[in-house]
Amino acid sequence: MSDIFKDSTWDLEDIELLDEFEKGRNLVLRATKQIFRDFYKQNFQGNEKVLEVGSGTGFLKRNWPENFHGEWIQLDSQPAFLKEAKKRSNGTYIQGSAYRIPFPDESLDVVCGYGSYDVLMDLEKATKEASRVLKEDGLFFHLLDLSPCSEPIMKDLNDRQVPSKIDGWENSKGYIQSKSISFVPEEKVKDFNKITAKLNNDYSDLRDFGEEHNKLWRKYSQEIQTHDYFDRKLRDSLTPYFNTETIESGDLTASFKGERTKQQKKTDNEPFLFLNEAGKFYGYSNFTQYNMLRLNFPNMLNILPTGHDCAYRILKQISPSLAQKIEPSCSEISSVKYVSARK
Ligand SMILES: C[S@@+](CC[C@H](N)C(=O)[O-])C[C@H]1O[C@@H](n2cnc3c(N)ncnc32)[C@H](O)[C@@H]1O
Repeated sequence: MSDIFKDSTWDLEDIELLDEFEKGRNLVLRATKQIFRDFYKQNFQGNEKVLEVGSGTGFLKRNWPENFHGEWIQLDSQPAFLKEAKKRSNGTYIQGSAYRIPFPDESLDVVCGYGSYDVLMDLEKATKEASRVLKEDGLFFHLLDLSPCSEPIMKDLNDRQVPSKIDGWENSKGYIQSKSISFVPEEKVKDFNKITAKLNNDYSDLRDFGEEHNKLWRKYSQEIQTHDYFDRKLRDSLTPYFNTETIESGDLTASFKGERTKQQKKTDNEPFLFLNEAGKFYGYSNFTQYNMLRLNFPNMLNILPTGHDCAYRILKQISPSLAQKIEPSCSEISSVKYVSARK
């Protein structure tokens, strides 16, 4: 097995999962492209030499603003993903590892990733490597439209021997997706372990032990959003190698209103509906399940019901005229987390 494969945290078969992401992304593509345009306008001149790390099947490059006229190189550890990306769009593709980028020191203007640095098990090593190949004042940025991959977060907590739990659900490939994790803060770990060890001795009945343990967990643990955890981890990893004054992070959002595309109608044949507190129609949107987890509308009580087929059917009954108005159009709402820094 080559070293590149050893570095990789995604399997060959995960191409199906990338396609699943892509289907969801297509539902808000025009809004997401607006986010890319805004980010590009603020951070690019247009003629940069860019390396995208963990480019997968090439979503970011394919949807990057067309007025970019520099060089864009896509690097990934999985040749099968690159092969698929090649089929979808012309470009420069390299099989390689985020930890050993095959470029000389200070040779690139931009190093970036889209939902890729969150899957890496050794973020510090990867950001050090990104800084090595970046020119002075070169730009690093990472965008994320999904929940961050939880494996590196759990490994991080495990390595520090911090008791932790993740409550989430498994996606089709068996990866746990979660919005939050709970863990015992470092200063409480010693106490927590002492009491848990005592519990082990005191209870022979597993059920009683479980209940006591849960109580203990509630008392000692704290919850954190996986996004916040990753954001902090990435910022910390950038700090030794980048100009700290330039390290930034936050949310990028955009929306688009207009006709639903053929693709949207095919993928999701009926639009989502939102209700406000008074149970009145609030708005409607097509968006990915991932964005749905993060959408936070003011005064919004409910997305009714979560299965949108059903919601649309209800609307057709209670307000056929409104349903008719909605059908040909949609609102796309997209939100992407970003972290960026200059060397
Ligand atoms: C969640 S996927 C994202 C793919 C793509 N950027 C997208 O948004 O569709 C993560 C990608 O990182 C790649 N990857 C994982 N470990 C890597 C490593 N050590 N070096 C380079 N790429 C890696 C995987 O092969 C995969 O394509």
